[in-house]
Amino acid sequence: MTSNRREFIKAGALGAAALSTGMLGAPSPAAARTDHKPLDILVLGGTGFIGPHMVREALRRGHSVTLFNRGRTDAGAFPDLETIKGDRNNGLDGLEGRQWDVVIDNSGYVPRHVRDSARLLAPNVAHYVFVSTVSVYADFTSDAPESAPLATIADETVEQVTGETYGALKALCEKAVMQEVGAERTTVLRPTYICGPGDRTDRFTWWPVRASRGGEMLWPGQPGDHIQIIDVHDLALFTVDCVEQKIAGTFNTATPESGYTMGELLADCRAVTAAEVQDIWVDEAFAIAASANAPVRNHGAFPVWHPQRGPDAMGAQFIAHAAREAGMQTRPVRETIRGLLGWWATLPEERTSKLQAGLPAEYEAELIARWKKQQG
Ligand SMILES: NC(=O)c1ccc[n+]([C@@H]2O[C@H](COP(=O)([O-])OP(=O)(O)OC[C@H]3O[C@@H](n4cnc5c(N)ncnc54)[C@H](OP(=O)(O)O)[C@@H]3O)[C@@H](O)[C@H]2O)c1
Repeated sequence: MTSNRREFIKAGALGAAALSTGMLGAPSPAAARTDHKPLDILVLGGTGFIGPHMVREALRRGHSVTLFNRGRTDAGAFPDLETIKGDRNNGLDGLEGRQWDVVIDNSGYVPRHVRDSARLLAPNVAHYVFVSTVSVYADFTSDAPESAPLATIADETVEQVTGETYGALKALCEKAVMQEVGAERTTVLRPTYICGPGDRTDRFTWWPVRASRGGEMLWPGQPGDHIQIIDVHDLALFTVDCVEQKIAGTFNTATPESGYTMGELLADCRAVTAAEVQDIWVDEAFAIAASANAPVRNHGAFPVWHPQRGPDAMGAQFIAHAAREAGMQTRPVRETIRGLLGWWATLPEERTSKLQAGLPAEYEAELIARWKKQQG
C-alpha cells in the first residue's frame, strides 16, 4: 500500500520506462470504423508506457504519427515514424512552424512545460488531448465527478514533481492547456491506475502474477473493498476516439462503472489462472502495519488497494459516466488479467524476477503465519 494518497498514481507515471507492446483485446466499435479521414497526430512522449499503445492504435486506424521526445526512452521503438528530438524544458524548437491535426500530450507534468508546448502548438493544431490523472482531485474520501474540487499548491511556480506536488501540478497543467488552446478544442483525460502490458510499476500486474503462483495468498481488507483501474488498451482506444471525433471535455477514465472489488479481483484471477489460490484476508490494521514494515518494493506491498476506513481511508470512486457517454468502452477486468499474464509470460526472467510491487514471498509467508497465530 502506498501511504501517501496523492502519490498513488504518480509513481507509475514517473517511473515508466519504455517497452514495446502489442495491442491486445478487441477493438471498440469506434476503432472498427473507417469513416474518419487520416489525421496527422503529434504525440508528445510516445515511448513510455501508455504512449506506445496510443501510437499503435492511431497507426492501426490509418493515421500518421509524429513523436516528440528526447530520444532517451526506448529510442528504437518506432523506427518508421518521424521523431522530433527535443526537450519539453526549453527545447521545443523542432516543433516550430509545423502543423498537425491533433496533439496527444502524455508526458506533461510541469505546468510551464505544458503551457510552452500548448502555446506554441495552439495556432497550428485543431485539437489537443492532455493526459492528466485522477490525482488532480483535492479529496480522495468522497466520490469525484469531473467537477469535484481540484488540488492546489501554495507556490504555483514549483517544478519539482513529487508525491506531494504531482496532483496539483497536473491540475495546473490542465489549466494551462485550457487557457492556451481553449476548452472547445481540448480533451483532458483523467485515468485512475493504468494497467496493461508495458507497465513497469507492476502495481495491478502483481495480483494476477501472484495468484498464478497459487497457494496461500494474503489479501488486504475485505472482499468488498473497492479498487479502480483502467486497461491501457481501453484508454488508448478512447484517446483515439477523442482525436477522431474531436470530443472536447474533461473525462475520468476508470473501469468498470458498476464498481470493482478486491473480491472480484480474486475471482477473476482464479478464473484466468489454473493455480489454486487459498485466500487469507487480513484486516486493515494488519495490512497497514504489514505494508509499513515490508521489504522495499518501489510501488507498495498491496498495490492498487487502499484502506476504506480509518485515517488512511481513500474510499473515493472516480465517476466515469461522462467518458462512457462519450463512447468509452471498457473490457471486463478478466480480459485485462488474461492479457497481462500473456504479456508477462513473454518477458525475460531477469525482468519477472524483479517485481516492483507486492509482497516478497518470504515476507508473505511470515505474515500469514503471524496472522494465523494472532487469530488463534
Ligand atoms: N501510470 C499510471 O497509472 C497513470 C495514471 C494516471 C495518469 N497517468 C499519466 O499518464 C502519463 C504517463 O504516460 P507514460 O508512462 O507513457 O509516459 P512517461 O513515462 O511519463 O513519459 C515518457 C515519454 O515522454 C518522453 N519525455 C519524458 N520527458 C521528456 C522531456 N523532458 N521532453 C520530451 N520528452 C520527454 C519520453 O521520452 P524520452 O525519455 O526519450 O524523452 C517518453 O516518450 C502521464 O501524463 C501521467 O500523468 C499515468
